[in-house]
Parts: sequence; C-alpha cells; structure tokens
Amino acid sequence: MTGLLLLAACGGGGGFEPTPVATAIPGPLWSEVAPLRDAAAQTGRMIGAAVFSSRLGSDAAYTGAAGRHFNSLTAEWEMKWNPIQRIPGVYDFSGGDRIVDFAESRGMRVKGHALVWHGATPEWVNALSPPELRIAFEDHIRTVAEHYRRRVYAWDVVNEAIDDSQPGLRSTVFSRGLGSDYVAEAFRQARRADPEAQLIYNDYGAEGLNRKSNDVYNLVKDLKERGLVDGVGLQMHISAASFPALADIQANIQRLADLGLQVNISEMDVRVKDVPGDAATKLPGQRQVYRDVVAACVAVPRCEAVTLWGFTDAHSWIDNAFGADDPLLFDEQYRAKPAFFGVLDAYLGR
Ligand code: XIL
Repeated sequence: MTGLLLLAACGGGGGFEPTPVATAIPGPLWSEVAPLRDAAAQTGRMIGAAVFSSRLGSDAAYTGAAGRHFNSLTAEWEMKWNPIQRIPGVYDFSGGDRIVDFAESRGMRVKGHALVWHGATPEWVNALSPPELRIAFEDHIRTVAEHYRRRVYAWDVVNEAIDDSQPGLRSTVFSRGLGSDYVAEAFRQARRADPEAQLIYNDYGAEGLNRKSNDVYNLVKDLKERGLVDGVGLQMHISAASFPALADIQANIQRLADLGLQVNISEMDVRVKDVPGDAATKLPGQRQVYRDVVAACVAVPRCEAVTLWGFTDAHSWIDNAFGADDPLLFDEQYRAKPAFFGVLDAYLGR
C-alpha cells in the first residue's frame, strides 16, 4: 500500500515529498536472521527474554523466535508471588514450570523473577500482622526457591526496594511489617533454600549515576560485604527520546562490577513514541540506543547478561504501562527491526 503511494509520489514528477516509507520496508522474518544467541555466546554472554508460558507452544512465531534467538528466559509474570501463591499456602508452579521445561528443551538458562516485589503481592499479604507476615515471607521464599533449585541459575530476590524520591527504602508492606532489614532477610532465606543460585538485587531508574543508583550501590555493597548478594540487575526500561548518559551507564556497570558483583541488564525495552519524527527517524534511533547500551554491558566482563522485556512489539507491557509503542526487537509480524541489528552489532563488536 505504502509502496504504491511511493511509486505514485515518484511518478508524480515532484512538487511534494514522497510519503516516508520506513514502516513499509519490512525487515527479514525472525527465522531469516542469524540467531542472536550465537552472537551473544561468542562473547560468553547470555541474551534473554521475558516470556509468558501461555504463548510458548501455542503461537508458532512466538515459540520459534524465542527458541532461536535467546539462550536465557525469564518469566514476565508467572514466577511472582501473586501467580504462584494467590491463595495462602496454595502454590501453583504450573506457569513457571512450563517456561523452565521449554528452556531446558532448548538448552537455555532461566533467571527466576522475582521472590519479593511489592508490585506483585497478593491481597492477603497486606492483611497479615507483622509476625504472620514474617512467617509468610520466609515460607514463600523458601518454598519457591527450593522448588526451582538447580532449574534456575539465578533469582531476582528483591525487586524495586529503593524509593524513587527520597533516600533509602521504599515504604511497602515488607518494610512496614518487617523493618528495613527485610532485604537482607530475603537474601538470607534465598541462600538457605538455593545455595547455588546467583542472588540478585534488581531495580529501575538506577541505570546511570544518580541518587537512586547511589542508594542501590550502597545497598548491594553492604549486602555483598555480608555475603548475601551476588549480582545486580539494571532494568533499563528507557525511551530513545531521553535516557541516562551512556558514560554514566558505563561507569555505573563498572562500579557495581568492581564490588565483585555480577551485573545484568534485566528488563530492557526502548520506547520510541516520544522521539520526534516518523518511523524513518525513530527506528534508527532505537537501533542506536540498543547497540550502545548492550555494548556498554559487553565492555565489562562481569556484565554477563542482557534480558529484554519481551521480544515482539505484538506483546509488550509498555503498551499498557506507557501507551502504545514499539519498544522491542521484532515488529508485530515478527520481522527483525533495526533494533535487532543494533543488538547484533553490539555483540559482534560493530
Ligand atoms: C510487569 C509485566 O511486564 C506485566 O506483564 C505485569 O502485568 C506486571 O509486571 N518491573 C518489573 C517487572 O520488575 O516485573 C514488571 O513486569 C515491569 C516493571
């Protein structure tokens, strides 16, 4: 359709600019491009994606692209407290187990996400007294981490505990009921339940150098000194229109690695809605951001993984959380976007 418009515009003999056609130049299908995981593996890195179990197996393109391009998976929803223990004491591992089964059948690793997150806590947890909360908290961490022992290589143990607007911990059901040492307690409990897993602190808005990333740094430094944390995840939900300075992202990854921690980019997506212009500007801009951020990880030996928060624009949480957008590597028809090649370039050192 747009191609016809372009022909008509060219044939019109000037007088107006042809309609931009960036969206009408489809990239190659997911099955026609080199597996991203091979490029990542050449650098010894994991490239991961967040997935939903319901689409694995039922949607051929989704399943094919996930299996071809990634060597690590994370449950976008199904390993959180709410879906796993919606009813007190009743554990449902079915969704998470399907993801782990799929990953194992394709030689992929799995990163567990997330044992403690105020954003996915079932309603009943809010009604507990402090002593009841402590028991539920310890039971949940122990039961889930034991269930997935040897099947996940890592856990996001605590997610998003640092406050956005003031120094220190965010006020949540956990900080209010258990006190500020709940973060260390969660790590202690996870370590007991799964001594081999890499235990990770994960947060957003702490990608560059700022007050929040300083707080994350100080938190994980303290936990590391107590032998409780092994890694830190930088979520990287960013916009190509405004994102932390690359030099700051680089310096932040480096200072965390210098603590002896593994670092991973844990939930990357790059919004383009607010980039001025049309797709011809937005998509190359998005490609550049993906390339540069992944390259910042590849530059640090301890930055071992990049996980994308989905992989196709057909299914992204961004549409609900921030408004309609195209933040991922494949378009809605599972064709590789410029962003895909940006990530590939980063792993190939281009
Ligand atoms: C989001 C998922 O993408 C949604 O599907 C779900 O409804 C809510 O959670 N930070 C996190 C992720 O750590 O767990 C969130 O995932 C996105 C923000």
